[in-house]
Amino acid sequence: MRLVIDGEDREATPQPGQCLRTLLRDMGRFGVKRGCDAGDCGACSVLLDGVPVHSCLMPAFRAEGRVVTTVAGLGNPAALHPTQKAFLDAQGYQCGFCTAGMIVTVSALDQGQLASLPEAMKGNLCRCTGYRAISDAVAGVTNVMTEHAVATVTGRDLGAPSGVAVVTGTARYTLDVAVPGLTHLKLLRSPHAHARLVAIDTTAALAVPGVLCVLTHEDSPQHHFSTARHQDWRDDPDDSVVLDTVMRFVGQRVAAVVAETVAAAEAGCAQLHVTYEVLPAVLTPQSALTPGAPAVHDGPPEVMRERRIRDAAHNLVAELAGGVGDLAAGLAAADVVHSAEYHSQRVQHAAMETNAAIAFVDADGILVMRTSTQVPYLVQTALADLLKRPRETIRVLCEQVGGGFGGKQEMLIEDILALATLRVGRPVQLELTRAEQFAATTCRHPMTVSVRLGARRDGTLTALELDVLSDTGAYGNHAIGVLFHGCGESVAIYRCPNKRVTGRVVYTNTPPSGAFRGYGLSQTIFAIESAMDELAVKLGIDPFDLRHRNRIKPGDQMVSFGGSPEDVEYGSYGLDQCLDLVRDRLSACTEQAESTDWSVGSGMAMAMIDTIPPRGHFATSRIQIAADGHYELTVGTADFGSGSSTVHLQIAAEALGSLPSRIRLAQSDTALGGYDSGAFGSTGTVVAGLATQRAAEALAALIRKRAASMHGREEGSSVLHADHVEIASQEVSLGEFAGLAAEGASDGSRRSIAFNVQGFRVAVHHPTGRIRILKSVHAADAGRVINPMQCRGQVEGGVAQALGAALFEELRIDASGAVSNAAFRSYHIPTMADLPPTDVLFADTYDLIGPAGAKSMSESPFNPVAAALANAVADATDVRFRRTPLAADIVWRALSQHAAAG
Ligand code: FES
Repeated sequence: MRLVIDGEDREATPQPGQCLRTLLRDMGRFGVKRGCDAGDCGACSVLLDGVPVHSCLMPAFRAEGRVVTTVAGLGNPAALHPTQKAFLDAQGYQCGFCTAGMIVTVSALDQGQLASLPEAMKGNLCRCTGYRAISDAVAGVTNVMTEHAVATVTGRDLGAPSGVAVVTGTARYTLDVAVPGLTHLKLLRSPHAHARLVAIDTTAALAVPGVLCVLTHEDSPQHHFSTARHQDWRDDPDDSVVLDTVMRFVGQRVAAVVAETVAAAEAGCAQLHVTYEVLPAVLTPQSALTPGAPAVHDGPPEVMRERRIRDAAHNLVAELAGGVGDLAAGLAAADVVHSAEYHSQRVQHAAMETNAAIAFVDADGILVMRTSTQVPYLVQTALADLLKRPRETIRVLCEQVGGGFGGKQEMLIEDILALATLRVGRPVQLELTRAEQFAATTCRHPMTVSVRLGARRDGTLTALELDVLSDTGAYGNHAIGVLFHGCGESVAIYRCPNKRVTGRVVYTNTPPSGAFRGYGLSQTIFAIESAMDELAVKLGIDPFDLRHRNRIKPGDQMVSFGGSPEDVEYGSYGLDQCLDLVRDRLSACTEQAESTDWSVGSGMAMAMIDTIPPRGHFATSRIQIAADGHYELTVGTADFGSGSSTVHLQIAAEALGSLPSRIRLAQSDTALGGYDSGAFGSTGTVVAGLATQRAAEALAALIRKRAASMHGREEGSSVLHADHVEIASQEVSLGEFAGLAAEGASDGSRRSIAFNVQGFRVAVHHPTGRIRILKSVHAADAGRVINPMQCRGQVEGGVAQALGAALFEELRIDASGAVSNAAFRSYHIPTMADLPPTDVLFADTYDLIGPAGAKSMSESPFNPVAAALANAVADATDVRFRRTPLAADIVWRALSQHAAAG
């Protein structure tokens, strides 16, 4: 058939059943993304005869004789379309994976649609931004400063280096490359929550035309590992193998088929005949702990302990107990005691780019893994251990990563891809479908948290007790770290002489939990901050006053429970400022109920986080001068939308007296050097940025030394400029210093603390249970903010993601153990219409530990949101919700029962 694509008359031959999205990608239009293949997310939006469509829903043959315009057809780097320019000027993106589709849709909006933008954009989802920056782009707001207009580069709103590539659709995400000879891998997944594999007959699958091989447990190394990636591999239990003989959740891999096409691989999977012995399953942590419950991981106790599983026979991965003072005495001294149990549900990262990778062996025999990951170096290490190969024979890299939020701090696909490419001797690609992403990757740990608080009449805390039961699902990736972290800062933020914390994390036959923005703190903070408000009501004390009275203060001892190293220091302190900023802004909000159907109220919650994970985090950076007088900066950390690339350029430019545009950045490629533990724990700025600062400062010193020796002057007499060095009024081109290089390292062993306070004013609609947010205010103690525009975006995005979890997101498990809502249509994430703008306020602090005074701020804004919302709803309605999400039907039912009870 013939059609016009981006202004070119083209001929195409669609495959039977092929959609327009895959046809366009096959023809090199990589700006057309896959987010769902179900018409829900809009990442694949294109214009068909000028009208926006989801190309995943459009049969390719229907494009015959039509005009198709992708983001690349709107404009190009040399001639941006006005909508592309608007998104660039506003920086209307973070990871950028949704951006091409957003721009295509916005470009076709008429005035009427622009006037009701949230409605017009309901078919385009963004998981990163919270939509404010996108609204700004549509409104023509310029958020990005041009670097020549600013006197210094840190503390300024400079744009991301990938900006032009993102808005023109030329940024290369994991699968946006044409690989000759590419083959495709699909996975057969378990239909049972718990079963033993008896036999697999591969005969029919291997007979499917195009199928190249089938991998089963017989092809799998019997090497036990954790899919979780940490600097210290002992942080997680070794409870996984590539292909196992025991199925522990619905959706676990059973076998893999590699074929010439995706369709042939799927057909091969359908022809695999598997015999299972179905075993009894446990689907809740409470039932998993019941005496006699089936063991999810069975085996000799000594072997299980070697794999760092505390008590496998009783499904216990780990437990902790700790405290200070005398809890009983603290409770006895209290005038008021409050105790209650709180529940957080299973939610998912839902990054727009699903887990995807391409593996191949290059001409030098190097196993190359091009993957969507937050941790390229740790994946390299894990593959080396698994395959028994030297690390240097494995290269792991990522270019643009389409969101992560902790979900890509795992090795979820690279292991099977490595086996596959080594078997077939050709490049192999695996792209998880959205349904696989929901059902078979990882989610936030559901937790049941019991809290007991004791206080004197004046509000002074005398006792604080926390008991946590965490559900890690079928595997223990991040189980231990999340439990320990969740029980750390949530309790440490309060000064109280008597504290006790207990926690258990258990296996169930459900999809594995994992790392997720906040790393356990959102669940425990929901419980403690809800309980503090309930205590405030009992005491008749204002919630802000109760926090002020009991908040941790500089000089207080940092108390850590469960054995984490007590290496946290006050690099700065801004909690008091955050509380006052939110209180002032909320108190100025005077919106009232518009009718008796509505109740209005306000609520707040606070949170603390240790910047940098404990137990080691390493980063190295290298910077050198190229022959053309530019700097070349190499860092190991990956940028998956956090904006760390921009921050690194700003930090380096500041140290060198230069401009970000004079620095070329290479990153997240193990072949380039610059070891990095990974982009997690909010370390991209705090640890890796510090390494960059040290490298840049070292290079600046080298330049001055060289300049002094060239001109026989004292060191320090030279001044560094953007593209030259000034020595005694003489200008010397930086190119004269080509080859000079320096390295910097940071080990993240000194850890600081950051704070967040969230406030809401809400209206609750009694006839429907709907919650309308009248005001959202977030104060962040991020130290010195290196890029306020980006940091604000991180806060807005964190609040937005947390609001989705607080209001309606829930990954549901049915009676068979299967995820029953594995699609965006049934697992609703916030659209532009669902989210209020959030006022973002920054405390005025300067951290003595982080680079240029900065602290972390990419994950912690998530943590206080659910509690602040529940506290506002309770203030409005007198009904306390101790379980998330606060979905409209749940709220309506509770309000109705409350009204009926009088
Ligand atoms: Fe929209 Fe990442 S910027 S999904």
